[in-house]
Amino acid sequence: MSALDFSTTLGNAWFPAPTFTASGCASSGRELAQFFDLRTMGGVVTKSVMMKARTGRPTPRMAETASGMLNSIGLQGPGIDAFLAKDVPYLIEQKARIVVSIAGETVEEYSTLARKLRSVSGISALEVNISCPNVENRGLVFACDPEASRRVIDGVRRTIGGELPIIAKLSPDVTDLVSIARGVVEAGADGLALINTVLGMVINLDTMRPHLGGKTGGLSGPAIKPIAVRAVYQVHAAMPQVPILGMGGISNGRDALEMIAAGASGISVGTASFGNPTAIMSIQNELKDLLIEKGFTSLRQAIGYAHRPESE
Ligand code: SIN
Repeated sequence: MSALDFSTTLGNAWFPAPTFTASGCASSGRELAQFFDLRTMGGVVTKSVMMKARTGRPTPRMAETASGMLNSIGLQGPGIDAFLAKDVPYLIEQKARIVVSIAGETVEEYSTLARKLRSVSGISALEVNISCPNVENRGLVFACDPEASRRVIDGVRRTIGGELPIIAKLSPDVTDLVSIARGVVEAGADGLALINTVLGMVINLDTMRPHLGGKTGGLSGPAIKPIAVRAVYQVHAAMPQVPILGMGGISNGRDALEMIAAGASGISVGTASFGNPTAIMSIQNELKDLLIEKGFTSLRQAIGYAHRPESE
């Protein structure tokens, strides 16, 4: 038996492990459940759900890049009613801890989604995705605008009440991430998910045109890990009391520990699961072993360790 306390908290939600799926990379967990018991990880962050069913952007919607990939999915999904009827009951049946991710086209849509979710039992936290890059125009990336991001979070907080923790998912594609983070925390976010994908593009040299149907896409995978670590470090330095779910290119236990040391209270695994559906389990085990190897008796002791003065 290990003497390590591996548990973590995001707002008032407790999780036995700090390892989560990244929204969008495992839908509602069904595909992963054939490989491992969903209860054994921290929690499932579901694909961001919108009010209505959506087919997403035109194909092609994926492109491999050096050390990563671009996606241009465009928030394809079943819509909130079908999600509540099928996916949430499935996850509850699996005894998974559930973080529901929501996305809207307007401030009001986020609040309406929150209204639909506020009386649903079995949900641990709400991820408010205000940073999807695959939208019609940059004005819809709420997280790129301090005022728009505040308004979304304020509306969700007012609607949902005080119980369910709100985690705002932010974009790295801004000049001053700390000020956006501060704004959403002031508006009622209990935690932050850092980072969403980085806006990118690939040109197909056969057609000499953008490869993706939506032209641009979100870059994920190891290529963005240093950006994610930097974002987590900067935000934790400014607001050490705010829990961060860190993500962006985590592929092994060492990557996970880097993110924790930068200031993340938990980590999400996305792109790595596409090549290896059990990646999250190996990452979880490797992280646990590394923490023990380094003499930590709890995950908590390692959170933000990189901020300590060298003399400690
Ligand atoms: C998508 O569905 O386009 C990806 C969602 C996201 O990056 O937030």
